[in-house]
Amino acid sequence: MYVVDLRSDTVTKPTAAMRRAMATASLGDDVYREDPTVNILEGKCAALLGKEAALFVPSGTMSNLIALMVHCSKRGSEAFVGTLSHIYKYQVGGAAHLGSILLSTIDNKPDGTFDLEELESRIRGGNNNEPISTVVALENSHNVCGGKVLSLKFINDVAALCKKHSLILHMDGARLFNASEYLQVLASRVVRDCDSVSVCFSKGLSAPVGSVLVGTRDFIEQARRIRKMLGGGMRQAGVLAAAVLVGLDEMMPQLYLDHQRARRLACGK
Ligand SMILES: Cc1ncc(COP(=O)(O)O)c(C=O)c1O
Repeated sequence: MYVVDLRSDTVTKPTAAMRRAMATASLGDDVYREDPTVNILEGKCAALLGKEAALFVPSGTMSNLIALMVHCSKRGSEAFVGTLSHIYKYQVGGAAHLGSILLSTIDNKPDGTFDLEELESRIRGGNNNEPISTVVALENSHNVCGGKVLSLKFINDVAALCKKHSLILHMDGARLFNASEYLQVLASRVVRDCDSVSVCFSKGLSAPVGSVLVGTRDFIEQARRIRKMLGGGMRQAGVLAAAVLVGLDEMMPQLYLDHQRARRLACGK
């Protein structure tokens, strides 16, 4: 019997090609930056997403947390997130618990966006009595909103608002490649105006483990220290990166098939 488990794209298992790549990967100690396979993956992801540098991390949860901790390193910093965002709902309050970061929520609309006037009205003016508005985090595609993809116009508008108020724009792009497939534009275009982006490989790309965080070289250097502090320095991590590389080469080009099937299911035919 052939079972299709639709509970989540996280239940996808590594392909035979991934297992082969894992068994034969060149390895080194990634905390010393000596794992050749991780280095290849990080270089590839930075290029794919149009950013200066990338960091391979164990999970999307850690990736988002690291991003917020780097951006909000000043105590009393505030990050704006959607009420239905994964960061707010499902990441165990890590930003508050481990990062001393105030998560301020903006009501998500059913399409994963939020009201930009509301966001703008909530940005603080730098008064000594207030938290320091620092980051806006988008989620694309949006998990709780049923996989909705943010339009480029919405992202452009949020980015313009961030620029106007000197805020940092982060994207939780756990399923960024699905968004890129849906929008029919390169992933680097989707995240063009984002300062940092987290992307997951253990979901629709069927790698067993791993996410990547991208941004400027300086941001990634700081992120590397936080990753180590959180226990995410992974030594011979090339065994995992090898599977991710297969996911990028062989599974990403097939995402359009998942979209075709999802459309058929949604239409009931
Ligand atoms: C939108 C989004 N962000 C982040 C994550 C966290 O990823 P992980 O399970 O790798 O920690 C998930 C997991 O489903 C997600 O859906």
